[in-house]
Amino acid sequence: MTTTSPTLGPVVVTGAAGFIGSHLTDALLALGIEVVAIDRRSVHTDPVAARNLAGALTKPRLRVHQVDLVSDEIDALVAGAATVFHLAAVPGVRDSWSERFPDYAASNVVATQRLLAACERAQVGRLMLASSSSVYGQASGPSRESDPTYPMSPYGATKLAAEHLCMAHAARPDTTTSVVTLRYFTVYGPRQRSDMAISRVLAAVLSGSPVPLYGDGQQSREFTYVDDIVAATLAAATVSEDIDAEIVNVGGGSSVSMLELIALVGQITGRKIPLAVEAPRAGDVEATRADLTVAHSLLGYAPRVELREGVARQLDWMVKQPSGHSVSAAAKVVVSR
Ligand SMILES: NC(=O)c1ccc[n+]([C@@H]2O[C@H](COP(=O)([O-])OP(=O)(O)OC[C@H]3O[C@@H](n4cnc5c(N)ncnc54)[C@H](O)[C@@H]3O)[C@@H](O)[C@H]2O)c1
Repeated sequence: MTTTSPTLGPVVVTGAAGFIGSHLTDALLALGIEVVAIDRRSVHTDPVAARNLAGALTKPRLRVHQVDLVSDEIDALVAGAATVFHLAAVPGVRDSWSERFPDYAASNVVATQRLLAACERAQVGRLMLASSSSVYGQASGPSRESDPTYPMSPYGATKLAAEHLCMAHAARPDTTTSVVTLRYFTVYGPRQRSDMAISRVLAAVLSGSPVPLYGDGQQSREFTYVDDIVAATLAAATVSEDIDAEIVNVGGGSSVSMLELIALVGQITGRKIPLAVEAPRAGDVEATRADLTVAHSLLGYAPRVELREGVARQLDWMVKQPSGHSVSAAAKVVVSR
């Protein structure tokens, strides 16, 4: 039996002004694809959104819409799209314990349901959901897609709810929208959110302040370079038409502890890094590690960028930012690869 691949464009990217969404948007535009970019942050008033989409905004095939997926009309934006990449969400484990939780619930769950319904009305061919390794919870070895899910944070619970909504829609007998859920494992690279570990470590090194370390530093993460995430996400959009619903881990291929990460940053920058030890944070699992068998067999995916190279690229990018990092010592940082 021959399988055909669905057409990629035109596409909608939600969360396009964010870290990963902006890289995906850049990659789609580079392929000559028309992109309808949706985000509730405005490129006119939000400096991070403006910075993230600065390159994309120079391209004629981009249309940017400031839209809140929780409450705004979205049918007209989805109409005509062959593919929807759904990356919009409120991310981050720590804040999800706070009074901001209603925003997580609305933007991660309600918005996903509204978007799926709009996709069905518009007969969109495929939706990619950006999900997270945080749906797994504590794991003793590499997590497989078939493993039980036990999110350890309200954030993880909302991401799992979004996954279930996708599966429910994909199981409808009348749907035309297939779904690929991508479980991203900690993503890093240029434009990484400032609340994330590698950003925080690099920012501390650049400003000469101690690096905050939560707990004993033995907690390990599978870090995935953003270009690898984009490659897997694009591959998921065009893989066989016979798919109704798939779940795929996307990881960087190895897992390192926070102490190992900090030591690596020390080697790359040639600096001794002082630590500020703080209490462990609720919801932080001890280890994340991806089994990439499905990503390899279904998407032909293999991570290409190793942690040392990826961190060096992120540091290069941070040093070049006009503001946002107090670079007292940074001007002298020599990046060693
Ligand atoms: N960064 C990671 O390591 C990581 C890991 C696993 C999964 N993910 C998932 O990948 C996606 C992108 O993450 P990111 O790190 O780029 O985050 P980000 O915060 O940089 O980007 C998310 C974007 O979504 C937008 N958004 C949020 N709520 C919205 C709403 N109601 N309507 C419209 N836009 C809305 C935000 O304004 C933001 O620009 C998220 O779904 C996140 O859960 C990220």
